Amino acid sequence: QAAAAATTLSREEVITDHPFNNVTDSIFEKIGVNLHQQPAHPIGIIKGAIYDYFDQQHPSTFAKFDDLQPLVTAKANFDEVLVPADHVSRSPNDTYYVSPDVVLRCHTSAHQAELLRAGNSAFLVTGDVYRRDSIDATHYPVFHQMEGVRVFGPQDWEAAGQEPTAYAEAELKRTLEGLAKHLFGEVEMRWIDAYFPFTEPSFELEIFFKGQWLEVLGCGVMQQSILDKNLEPGHKAWAFGLGLERLAMVLFDIPDIRLFWTSDQRFLKQFKQGDLSTRFKSYSKFPPCYKDVAFWVSDSFTENNLCEVVRGIAGDLVEEVKLIDDFTHPKTGRTSNCYRIAYRSMDRSLTDEEINALQEEVRSTIASKLGVELR
Ligand code: PHE
Repeated sequence: QAAAAATTLSREEVITDHPFNNVTDSIFEKIGVNLHQQPAHPIGIIKGAIYDYFDQQHPSTFAKFDDLQPLVTAKANFDEVLVPADHVSRSPNDTYYVSPDVVLRCHTSAHQAELLRAGNSAFLVTGDVYRRDSIDATHYPVFHQMEGVRVFGPQDWEAAGQEPTAYAEAELKRTLEGLAKHLFGEVEMRWIDAYFPFTEPSFELEIFFKGQWLEVLGCGVMQQSILDKNLEPGHKAWAFGLGLERLAMVLFDIPDIRLFWTSDQRFLKQFKQGDLSTRFKSYSKFPPCYKDVAFWVSDSFTENNLCEVVRGIAGDLVEEVKLIDDFTHPKTGRTSNCYRIAYRSMDRSLTDEEINALQEEVRSTIASKLGVELR
Protein backbone atom coordinates (compact mmCIF):
# COMPACT_ATOMS: atom_id res chain seq x y z
CA GLN A 1 0.00 0.00 0.00
CA ALA A 2 1.51 3.30 -1.12
CA ALA A 3 1.46 6.26 1.21
CA ALA A 4 0.08 9.68 0.42
CA ALA A 5 2.49 12.31 -0.73
CA ALA A 6 2.89 15.11 1.79
CA THR A 7 0.88 17.80 0.08
CA THR A 8 -1.35 18.28 3.12
CA LEU A 9 -0.42 20.77 5.77
CA SER A 10 -0.63 20.78 9.51
CA ARG A 11 -2.08 23.61 11.53
CA GLU A 12 1.35 24.62 12.78
CA GLU A 13 2.52 25.11 9.24
CA VAL A 14 -0.11 27.63 8.33
CA ILE A 15 -0.34 31.25 9.20
CA THR A 16 -3.79 31.82 10.60
CA ASP A 17 -3.68 35.60 10.74
CA HIS A 18 -3.64 36.08 7.00
CA PRO A 19 -6.14 38.81 6.08
CA PHE A 20 -7.87 36.26 3.87
CA ASN A 21 -8.44 33.87 6.78
CA ASN A 22 -12.14 33.20 7.43
CA VAL A 23 -11.64 30.21 9.73
CA THR A 24 -13.00 31.04 13.17
CA ASP A 25 -11.62 29.51 16.36
CA SER A 26 -14.70 27.35 16.82
CA ILE A 27 -13.94 25.77 13.44
CA PHE A 28 -10.23 25.34 14.11
CA GLU A 29 -11.11 23.51 17.31
CA LYS A 30 -12.78 20.76 15.29
CA ILE A 31 -9.53 19.84 13.57
CA GLY A 32 -8.12 16.71 15.13
CA VAL A 33 -11.34 15.62 16.87
CA ASN A 34 -11.67 12.89 14.22
CA LEU A 35 -15.07 11.42 15.08
CA HIS A 36 -14.57 8.97 12.22
CA GLN A 37 -11.70 7.35 14.11
CA GLN A 38 -13.92 6.40 17.08
CA PRO A 39 -15.13 2.86 16.32
CA ALA A 40 -18.22 3.04 18.59
CA HIS A 41 -19.30 6.51 17.46
CA PRO A 42 -22.08 6.45 14.84
CA ILE A 43 -19.72 8.06 12.30
CA GLY A 44 -17.07 5.43 13.02
CA ILE A 45 -19.67 2.64 12.86
CA ILE A 46 -20.76 3.68 9.37
CA LYS A 47 -17.14 3.95 8.26
CA GLY A 48 -16.47 0.46 9.61
CA ALA A 49 -19.53 -0.98 7.85
CA ILE A 50 -18.37 0.46 4.51
CA TYR A 51 -14.86 -0.89 5.08
CA ASP A 52 -16.38 -4.32 5.80
CA TYR A 53 -18.32 -4.25 2.54
CA PHE A 54 -15.27 -3.44 0.44
CA ASP A 55 -13.14 -5.99 2.26
CA GLN A 56 -15.77 -8.70 1.67
CA GLN A 57 -16.17 -7.84 -2.02
CA HIS A 58 -12.48 -7.33 -2.78
CA PRO A 59 -10.23 -8.68 -0.03
CA SER A 60 -7.09 -6.57 0.49
CA THR A 61 -7.70 -4.43 -2.56
CA PHE A 62 -8.68 -1.01 -1.21
CA ALA A 63 -6.04 1.01 0.62
CA LYS A 64 -7.63 2.95 3.47
CA PHE A 65 -6.74 6.44 4.59
CA ASP A 66 -8.42 8.09 7.54
CA ASP A 67 -5.75 10.42 8.86
CA LEU A 68 -5.00 12.83 6.03
CA GLN A 69 -4.90 16.41 7.26
CA PRO A 70 -7.96 18.55 6.42
CA LEU A 71 -5.76 21.55 5.66
CA VAL A 72 -4.98 21.22 1.97
CA THR A 73 -3.88 23.46 -0.84
CA ALA A 74 -6.57 25.20 -2.86
CA LYS A 75 -4.88 23.51 -5.80
CA ALA A 76 -5.62 20.04 -4.43
CA ASN A 77 -9.14 20.93 -3.31
CA PHE A 78 -10.17 22.60 -6.57
CA ASP A 79 -7.70 22.71 -9.49
CA GLU A 80 -6.56 19.10 -9.44
CA VAL A 81 -10.16 17.91 -9.57
CA LEU A 82 -10.99 20.36 -12.34
CA VAL A 83 -13.29 22.66 -10.39
CA PRO A 84 -13.74 25.65 -12.75
CA ALA A 85 -12.21 28.97 -11.75
CA ASP A 86 -15.63 30.58 -11.38
CA HIS A 87 -17.35 27.70 -9.54
CA VAL A 88 -19.36 28.86 -6.48
CA SER A 89 -17.66 26.38 -4.19
CA ARG A 90 -14.43 28.41 -4.51
CA SER A 91 -16.03 31.48 -2.99
CA PRO A 92 -14.92 32.41 0.54
CA ASN A 93 -18.63 32.57 1.29
CA ASP A 94 -18.75 28.78 0.87
CA THR A 95 -15.24 27.56 1.69
CA TYR A 96 -12.92 28.16 4.64
CA TYR A 97 -9.68 29.77 3.52
CA VAL A 98 -6.67 30.09 5.77
CA SER A 99 -4.92 32.05 3.03
CA PRO A 100 -5.61 32.36 -0.70
CA ASP A 101 -3.71 29.10 -1.30
CA VAL A 102 -4.74 27.00 1.68
CA VAL A 103 -8.24 25.80 2.54
CA LEU A 104 -10.01 23.42 4.85
CA ARG A 105 -10.98 20.73 2.35
CA CYS A 106 -14.62 20.99 1.34
CA HIS A 107 -14.62 17.39 0.10
CA THR A 108 -12.45 14.30 0.31
CA SER A 109 -12.03 14.54 -3.47
CA ALA A 110 -9.15 16.88 -2.54
CA HIS A 111 -7.05 13.72 -2.11
CA GLN A 112 -7.82 11.99 -5.41
CA ALA A 113 -4.87 13.32 -7.38
CA GLU A 114 -2.19 12.92 -4.70
CA LEU A 115 -3.22 9.35 -3.94
CA LEU A 116 -3.19 8.43 -7.63
CA ARG A 117 0.26 9.96 -7.98
CA ALA A 118 1.42 7.95 -4.98
CA GLY A 119 0.52 4.77 -6.86
CA ASN A 120 -2.79 3.76 -5.29
CA SER A 121 -5.17 2.07 -7.71
CA ALA A 122 -8.02 1.41 -5.28
CA PHE A 123 -8.57 3.47 -2.16
CA LEU A 124 -11.00 4.80 0.42
CA VAL A 125 -10.39 8.15 2.12
CA THR A 126 -12.37 9.14 5.20
CA GLY A 127 -12.09 12.55 6.77
CA ASP A 128 -13.64 15.68 8.19
CA VAL A 129 -14.69 18.24 5.57
CA TYR A 130 -15.64 21.86 6.08
CA ARG A 131 -18.25 24.08 4.45
CA ARG A 132 -19.59 27.48 5.39
CA ASP A 133 -23.33 27.04 5.50
CA SER A 134 -26.64 27.90 7.11
CA ILE A 135 -27.58 26.49 10.53
CA ASP A 136 -30.30 23.91 11.05
CA ALA A 137 -30.86 20.30 12.13
CA THR A 138 -29.10 18.83 9.08
CA HIS A 139 -26.33 21.39 8.43
CA TYR A 140 -23.16 21.73 10.39
CA PRO A 141 -19.99 23.39 9.08
CA VAL A 142 -17.93 20.27 9.72
CA PHE A 143 -19.00 16.84 8.58
CA HIS A 144 -17.40 13.62 7.37
CA GLN A 145 -17.07 12.13 3.94
CA MET A 146 -15.72 8.96 2.47
CA GLU A 147 -14.22 8.97 -0.99
CA GLY A 148 -13.73 5.81 -3.01
CA VAL A 149 -11.66 5.44 -6.17
CA ARG A 150 -10.89 2.40 -8.29
CA VAL A 151 -8.60 2.37 -11.30
CA PHE A 152 -8.88 -0.15 -14.15
CA GLY A 153 -6.59 -1.20 -16.97
CA PRO A 154 -7.25 -2.64 -20.46
CA GLN A 155 -7.22 -6.22 -19.12
CA ASP A 156 -10.32 -5.38 -17.07
CA TRP A 157 -12.58 -3.98 -19.79
CA GLU A 158 -11.23 -6.29 -22.50
CA ALA A 159 -12.04 -9.36 -20.42
CA ALA A 160 -15.57 -8.03 -20.05
CA GLY A 161 -15.79 -7.16 -23.76
CA GLN A 162 -16.80 -3.58 -22.97
CA GLU A 163 -15.69 -0.07 -23.77
CA PRO A 164 -13.64 1.44 -20.91
CA THR A 165 -16.22 4.02 -19.85
CA ALA A 166 -19.14 1.60 -20.06
CA TYR A 167 -17.15 -0.93 -18.07
CA ALA A 168 -16.24 1.55 -15.32
CA GLU A 169 -19.81 2.84 -15.13
CA ALA A 170 -21.27 -0.67 -14.83
CA GLU A 171 -18.70 -1.70 -12.23
CA LEU A 172 -19.35 1.49 -10.26
CA LYS A 173 -23.10 1.01 -10.20
CA ARG A 174 -22.82 -2.65 -9.26
CA THR A 175 -20.42 -1.80 -6.45
CA LEU A 176 -22.53 1.01 -5.01
CA GLU A 177 -25.83 -0.85 -5.28
CA GLY A 178 -24.17 -3.61 -3.28
CA LEU A 179 -22.99 -1.06 -0.73
CA ALA A 180 -26.47 0.43 -0.34
CA LYS A 181 -27.87 -3.09 0.26
CA HIS A 182 -25.13 -3.80 2.76
CA LEU A 183 -26.09 -0.69 4.75
CA PHE A 184 -29.85 -0.46 4.27
CA GLY A 185 -30.99 -3.97 3.40
CA GLU A 186 -33.36 -4.69 0.52
CA VAL A 187 -34.29 -1.15 -0.54
CA GLU A 188 -35.52 0.30 -3.82
CA MET A 189 -32.85 2.38 -5.57
CA ARG A 190 -32.62 4.72 -8.50
CA TRP A 191 -29.82 6.46 -10.39
CA ILE A 192 -30.15 10.18 -11.12
CA ASP A 193 -27.97 11.98 -13.67
CA ALA A 194 -25.80 14.55 -11.93
CA TYR A 195 -22.95 16.94 -12.55
CA PHE A 196 -19.55 17.01 -10.88
CA PRO A 197 -16.52 18.69 -12.46
CA PHE A 198 -14.35 15.64 -11.82
CA THR A 199 -16.55 12.89 -13.28
CA GLU A 200 -18.27 12.24 -16.60
CA PRO A 201 -20.81 10.72 -16.67
CA SER A 202 -21.90 11.59 -13.12
CA PHE A 203 -24.70 10.15 -11.01
CA GLU A 204 -26.41 10.31 -7.68
CA LEU A 205 -27.77 7.22 -6.01
CA GLU A 206 -31.10 7.52 -4.25
CA ILE A 207 -32.75 4.94 -2.03
CA PHE A 208 -36.38 4.66 -0.98
CA PHE A 209 -36.19 4.51 2.79
CA LYS A 210 -38.90 5.11 5.40
CA GLY A 211 -41.29 6.44 2.79
CA GLN A 212 -39.07 8.85 0.90
CA TRP A 213 -36.36 9.05 -1.74
CA LEU A 214 -33.02 9.99 -0.22
CA GLU A 215 -29.83 10.95 -1.98
CA VAL A 216 -27.04 8.86 -0.52
CA LEU A 217 -23.98 9.62 -2.62
CA GLY A 218 -22.44 11.26 -5.68
CA CYS A 219 -20.25 9.38 -8.11
CA GLY A 220 -19.14 8.90 -11.68
CA VAL A 221 -16.45 7.87 -14.12
CA MET A 222 -13.37 9.94 -13.36
CA GLN A 223 -12.49 12.63 -15.90
CA GLN A 224 -9.76 11.21 -18.12
CA SER A 225 -7.50 14.23 -17.68
CA ILE A 226 -7.25 13.63 -13.92
CA LEU A 227 -5.97 10.12 -14.62
CA ASP A 228 -3.69 11.20 -17.45
CA LYS A 229 -2.08 13.88 -15.30
CA ASN A 230 -1.38 11.58 -12.39
CA LEU A 231 -0.84 8.10 -13.89
CA GLU A 232 0.70 6.54 -16.97
CA PRO A 233 -1.73 6.62 -19.91
CA GLY A 234 -4.26 3.86 -20.58
CA HIS A 235 -6.36 3.78 -17.41
CA LYS A 236 -9.99 4.32 -16.52
CA ALA A 237 -11.43 4.85 -13.04
CA TRP A 238 -14.55 5.46 -11.06
CA ALA A 239 -14.98 7.65 -7.98
CA PHE A 240 -17.66 8.21 -5.40
CA GLY A 241 -18.12 10.46 -2.37
CA LEU A 242 -20.61 10.02 0.41
CA GLY A 243 -21.56 11.93 3.56
CA LEU A 244 -21.28 9.84 6.71
CA GLU A 245 -23.55 12.05 8.87
CA ARG A 246 -26.32 11.80 6.35
CA LEU A 247 -26.11 8.01 6.25
CA ALA A 248 -25.90 7.79 10.04
CA MET A 249 -28.87 10.13 10.56
CA VAL A 250 -31.01 8.05 8.23
CA LEU A 251 -29.89 4.66 9.44
CA PHE A 252 -29.87 5.34 13.18
CA ASP A 253 -32.80 7.83 13.30
CA ILE A 254 -30.59 10.63 14.61
CA PRO A 255 -32.68 13.83 14.39
CA ASP A 256 -30.07 16.58 14.84
CA ILE A 257 -26.61 16.78 13.31
CA ARG A 258 -25.20 18.50 16.40
CA LEU A 259 -25.68 15.28 18.37
CA PHE A 260 -22.62 13.80 16.67
CA TRP A 261 -20.50 16.32 18.59
CA THR A 262 -22.00 15.80 22.03
CA SER A 263 -20.12 14.11 24.83
CA ASP A 264 -23.41 13.20 26.53
CA GLN A 265 -23.34 9.53 27.44
CA ARG A 266 -27.09 9.32 26.88
CA PHE A 267 -26.22 9.67 23.21
CA LEU A 268 -22.89 7.87 22.96
CA LYS A 269 -23.94 4.87 25.08
CA GLN A 270 -26.65 3.91 22.61
CA PHE A 271 -24.18 2.89 19.90
CA LYS A 272 -21.98 -0.16 19.63
CA GLN A 273 -19.04 -0.90 17.36
CA GLY A 274 -20.14 -3.02 14.39
CA ASP A 275 -23.85 -2.64 15.14
CA LEU A 276 -25.99 -1.08 12.42
CA SER A 277 -29.28 -2.00 14.11
CA THR A 278 -29.39 0.79 16.72
CA ARG A 279 -32.35 3.15 16.47
CA PHE A 280 -31.66 6.26 18.46
CA LYS A 281 -34.12 6.95 21.30
CA SER A 282 -34.25 10.64 22.05
CA TYR A 283 -33.86 11.60 25.65
CA SER A 284 -35.63 14.60 27.09
CA LYS A 285 -34.45 17.74 25.40
CA PHE A 286 -33.89 20.99 27.19
CA PRO A 287 -36.27 23.75 26.10
CA PRO A 288 -35.28 26.05 23.22
CA CYS A 289 -35.26 29.81 23.48
CA TYR A 290 -36.05 31.95 20.44
CA LYS A 291 -34.66 35.42 19.81
CA ASP A 292 -35.37 37.58 16.78
CA VAL A 293 -33.04 40.08 15.23
CA ALA A 294 -34.13 42.49 12.49
CA PHE A 295 -31.89 44.72 10.40
CA TRP A 296 -31.53 46.57 7.12
CA VAL A 297 -29.21 44.46 4.98
CA SER A 298 -26.09 45.80 3.29
CA ASP A 299 -25.00 44.86 -0.25
CA SER A 300 -22.38 42.49 1.05
CA PHE A 301 -24.68 40.74 3.54
CA THR A 302 -24.96 36.94 3.23
CA GLU A 303 -26.77 34.42 5.36
CA ASN A 304 -23.61 32.31 5.65
CA ASN A 305 -21.75 35.27 7.15
CA LEU A 306 -24.56 35.82 9.64
CA CYS A 307 -24.46 32.14 10.61
CA GLU A 308 -20.71 32.30 11.06
CA VAL A 309 -21.05 35.24 13.45
CA VAL A 310 -23.78 33.50 15.44
CA ARG A 311 -21.80 30.27 15.53
CA GLY A 312 -18.67 32.15 16.59
CA ILE A 313 -20.50 33.59 19.59
CA ALA A 314 -22.93 30.86 20.60
CA GLY A 315 -21.10 27.78 19.29
CA ASP A 316 -23.15 24.60 19.55
CA LEU A 317 -25.79 26.42 21.61
CA VAL A 318 -27.33 27.64 18.38
CA GLU A 319 -29.76 25.16 16.90
CA GLU A 320 -31.18 27.10 13.99
CA VAL A 321 -30.96 30.47 12.28
CA LYS A 322 -34.03 31.04 10.17
CA LEU A 323 -35.19 33.91 7.97
CA ILE A 324 -38.73 34.72 9.10
CA ASP A 325 -39.31 38.05 7.38
CA ASP A 326 -37.86 39.59 4.23
CA PHE A 327 -39.30 42.86 3.12
CA THR A 328 -38.25 45.66 0.78
CA HIS A 329 -39.46 49.14 1.57
CA PRO A 330 -41.53 50.37 -1.41
CA LYS A 331 -40.18 53.92 -1.27
CA THR A 332 -36.55 53.61 -0.18
CA GLY A 333 -35.91 50.22 -1.81
CA ARG A 334 -34.04 49.11 1.31
CA THR A 335 -34.42 45.50 2.39
CA SER A 336 -35.10 44.44 5.92
CA ASN A 337 -34.54 40.89 7.15
CA CYS A 338 -35.67 39.35 10.37
CA TYR A 339 -33.93 36.18 11.54
CA ARG A 340 -35.11 33.94 14.34
CA ILE A 341 -32.30 32.32 16.29
CA ALA A 342 -33.10 29.18 18.25
CA TYR A 343 -30.78 28.65 21.21
CA ARG A 344 -30.77 25.27 22.85
CA SER A 345 -28.20 23.23 24.67
CA MET A 346 -27.99 19.50 24.14
CA ASP A 347 -26.72 19.00 27.68
CA ARG A 348 -28.26 21.50 30.12
CA SER A 349 -30.84 24.24 30.50
CA LEU A 350 -29.77 27.74 29.64
CA THR A 351 -30.50 30.76 31.82
CA ASP A 352 -32.22 33.91 30.56
CA GLU A 353 -29.16 35.99 31.45
CA GLU A 354 -26.90 33.72 29.46
CA ILE A 355 -29.09 33.82 26.36
CA ASN A 356 -29.65 37.57 26.60
CA ALA A 357 -25.92 38.11 26.81
CA LEU A 358 -25.33 35.94 23.74
CA GLN A 359 -28.06 37.72 21.81
CA GLU A 360 -26.66 41.14 22.75
CA GLU A 361 -23.25 40.10 21.52
CA VAL A 362 -24.77 38.73 18.31
CA ARG A 363 -26.56 42.05 17.75
CA SER A 364 -23.53 44.23 18.29
CA THR A 365 -21.25 41.97 16.25
CA ILE A 366 -23.49 41.82 13.21
CA ALA A 367 -23.82 45.60 13.33
CA SER A 368 -20.06 46.10 13.48
CA LYS A 369 -18.86 43.21 11.30
CA LEU A 370 -21.57 42.73 8.70
CA GLY A 371 -22.31 46.39 8.10
CA VAL A 372 -26.05 45.99 8.65
CA GLU A 373 -28.23 48.51 10.44
CA LEU A 374 -30.13 47.05 13.36
CA ARG A 375 -33.81 47.88 13.66
N1 PHE B 1 -16.96 15.48 -3.98
C1 PHE B 1 -18.38 15.33 -4.25
C2 PHE B 1 -19.16 16.12 -3.18
O1 PHE B 1 -18.61 16.47 -2.18
C3 PHE B 1 -18.82 13.89 -4.23
C4 PHE B 1 -18.21 13.07 -5.35
C5 PHE B 1 -17.02 12.40 -5.18
C6 PHE B 1 -18.85 12.97 -6.58
C7 PHE B 1 -16.47 11.64 -6.21
C8 PHE B 1 -18.32 12.25 -7.61
C9 PHE B 1 -17.12 11.57 -7.42
O2 PHE B 1 -20.34 16.38 -3.34
